Amino acid sequence: MKSSTIQSLHHITLCTDTAQGDIDFFVKVIGQRFIKQTLFYDGKMPIYHLYFSDADGTPGTVMTTFPMRRSGLVGRKGSGQFTAIAYSVPAGSLDFWRDHFGKNGIKIQRESERFGEKYLEVQHAGIDFEIVEDATDTRTPWKSEYVPERYAVRGFHNWTVTVRELEDMDTFMKEAWAFEKVATDRAFTRYEVDDGGAGKRIDIHHAPDLRQGTWTLSAGIVHHGAFAVPDYDVQAKVKFDTEGMGFTDFSDRKHRGYFESVYVRTPGGVMFEATKSLGFGVDESPETLGTELKISPQFNISHDELRAHMQKEDPIRI
Ligand SMILES: [Fe+2]
Repeated sequence: MKSSTIQSLHHITLCTDTAQGDIDFFVKVIGQRFIKQTLFYDGKMPIYHLYFSDADGTPGTVMTTFPMRRSGLVGRKGSGQFTAIAYSVPAGSLDFWRDHFGKNGIKIQRESERFGEKYLEVQHAGIDFEIVEDATDTRTPWKSEYVPERYAVRGFHNWTVTVRELEDMDTFMKEAWAFEKVATDRAFTRYEVDDGGAGKRIDIHHAPDLRQGTWTLSAGIVHHGAFAVPDYDVQAKVKFDTEGMGFTDFSDRKHRGYFESVYVRTPGGVMFEATKSLGFGVDESPETLGTELKISPQFNISHDELRAHMQKEDPIRI
């Protein structure tokens, strides 16, 4: 059923290692477009905020990273986090991906099956990624020079959330976030929103004995996942109704340059965001997206000096 509240996955935000490491992985291995380079909009330390997606930054394809090595902070993976990010690829693509990862020096961690679908698992910056064959995903891929179109990722297939207690998270998914429980497979429960399918799925992994992971921005963890809402009224209603359930630790709306966001800590400990898109074309033309570092508004200093500082601290070569 079409949803009038949360519509799909929007973006997911990782704390990684270096800027160049992210470009090498997401552009040259995963085959995404480097669509925006800006800085973290909070705090006083300038940290890159890098975006990788399809051609236009369509919700459900947008990966964002904070390369954190310079901070010296290293996170602990665990429960209360997003613990895996799955990209969908066309049926019959896994042989290509196995070979492609091998040629790029990336080790296959595991091959498994969940909900009748085959998953190939790799790691980048200590974070778990999955490649899943999904013949039903008809989204148009970015035309990458690194991955042939017939094997290219279409966008996110699902994100996995890991929690110690399932019951309260189940209620939250259904009542606050408009998802429907559609299937279970061992310790995994699959939820879908709107009309379901790739880009509209969350798998919840129940791990009752797993220690809680780090919430602080720190290398090697997923910080939060964001979900698309169609407009400000729906965003306000999601916040109002969720606060009405008792989840009053819901943030005010924050302007993130390319979207506006509200954040809530879910009962499983995982941070969710409800996001109203503004588009990535607000400060660059469609052709030049991602080519210049855009300075976030809290830095009231020379943009050229800050660009030079970032290039020295965490160099990028595209
Ligand atoms: Fe976000």
